[in-house]
Amino acid sequence: MSLTNVINLNDGQAAPGKKKIFLFLGNAEVAELLSLTLDSRFHCDVSTFTSAIELVEALKTQRFDLAVLDFSLGEGMVVFEKAHNDKIPMVLYHPEGNSPEVRGPKMKVFRDNALLQGILQGVEQIGAFVKEGASDPTSDYVAVSTPLFLRATPLVTDTFVKLSGSKFLKILHKGDLFTYGDLKKYQAKKISHLYVPKTSIGALQEKLSMEMEILLGGMSREPRAEPTKGTDSVEAFHDLARNLGFTREVQELVKRSMTEVVEEMQKSPSLAGILANMELAKEKYIAAHSQMLAEVSCALAIAMEWGSDMSLKKIAMAALLHDMSLDDHNLCRVKSAAEFDERQGEFTTLQVEEYKSHTKRAAVLIQGMKEVPADVDKIVYQHHELPTGTGFPEAVSHFHIHPLAATLMVAHDLVDWVIDHPGPVDMPAFAEAHRQKYSVGVFKKILKALEALQV
Ligand SMILES: [Fe+2]
Ligand SMILES: [Fe+2]
Repeated sequence: MSLTNVINLNDGQAAPGKKKIFLFLGNAEVAELLSLTLDSRFHCDVSTFTSAIELVEALKTQRFDLAVLDFSLGEGMVVFEKAHNDKIPMVLYHPEGNSPEVRGPKMKVFRDNALLQGILQGVEQIGAFVKEGASDPTSDYVAVSTPLFLRATPLVTDTFVKLSGSKFLKILHKGDLFTYGDLKKYQAKKISHLYVPKTSIGALQEKLSMEMEILLGGMSREPRAEPTKGTDSVEAFHDLARNLGFTREVQELVKRSMTEVVEEMQKSPSLAGILANMELAKEKYIAAHSQMLAEVSCALAIAMEWGSDMSLKKIAMAALLHDMSLDDHNLCRVKSAAEFDERQGEFTTLQVEEYKSHTKRAAVLIQGMKEVPADVDKIVYQHHELPTGTGFPEAVSHFHIHPLAATLMVAHDLVDWVIDHPGPVDMPAFAEAHRQKYSVGVFKKILKALEALQV
């Protein structure tokens, strides 16, 4: 691969109205080198993202002129859909096929490993960025982003700073090392670009080209970046679903998490093992307790001999999505609507309303999903009902509560109990504390099955 023309002849001065590119790539080092290269060549603002959530947040306040993204990443499809909806021209890197149908001229897809060349060509062809970094054909020097020299050390050419007009001062010699200390020093002085003689640019390009080869070689040898797992993944699709709705891509993320939980539980349905390893990221209560609940409720469904593949899928998906319409962790930790009476003054009327409507809002969102297993919306809708018929939203008695919703409710109490009682799980104490609450119908059976597990 050649980096010919990677470094553009520009004067290193900030142009007003610089165009903005965002990168969504799995390899941080490649993203950094690409970012510096794009800045040097096109003199544009480059922002790098590794999380679709951060990117969706950024898109609320910022407008980008071009997106460069690795479509094969876990959240690549989500980012693609968002950029497509926002009509942002795109350069897609997609080495393994299955790329989306190319929709319109403002898109370029690359399937081979010529990542850098492909991206640079794509940016040039569809972004019209080349004119932005106005080159200075009269100068004998070429501006290069300062951090890029960290990738080109020991230096292959003398390096200069621009003093004023056409005056340049040599500050580093060919063969010198360029260190992080040097970078910090120049950044402190706000020197964003250093200069090399035009006659030496070929040597610098060759050095950077080798560096990129190494990074890309590493990238192709490494397994593809794994999609985020567990709590992070749940948090990601909760946020995305609230912001974007259940797009096809968000639904894929939900289904992947559900499948992971079900496959894991079918392999090893040990409730004792799950409870012993429960760790809650407190600042991520909503996602963390949903993930735990998916595992615990699957184990409980298996103990009740309701462990068919379809039942496990239903209860796992319901658990993952049950509180998705809430985004306030404190509010989500409220165990029942009656708690608002005991904690008067702690929550606003709006928050109480939000809480009381969260099961319904989640169920409505789930009804908008395609190919969702039957009853998931019902299980979610009923997850705050009570055996005594005093829960919400319908205050139905235990006769009308779906057995998997009942399982989810008992599992939810268990998850909360384990969170509130650190250390070894005292199942007899949990059973005793909940015996009266679960003294009727299917609830009684579920509690009995739980006790029989002898955790
Ligand atoms: Fe919950
Ligand atoms: Fe809830």
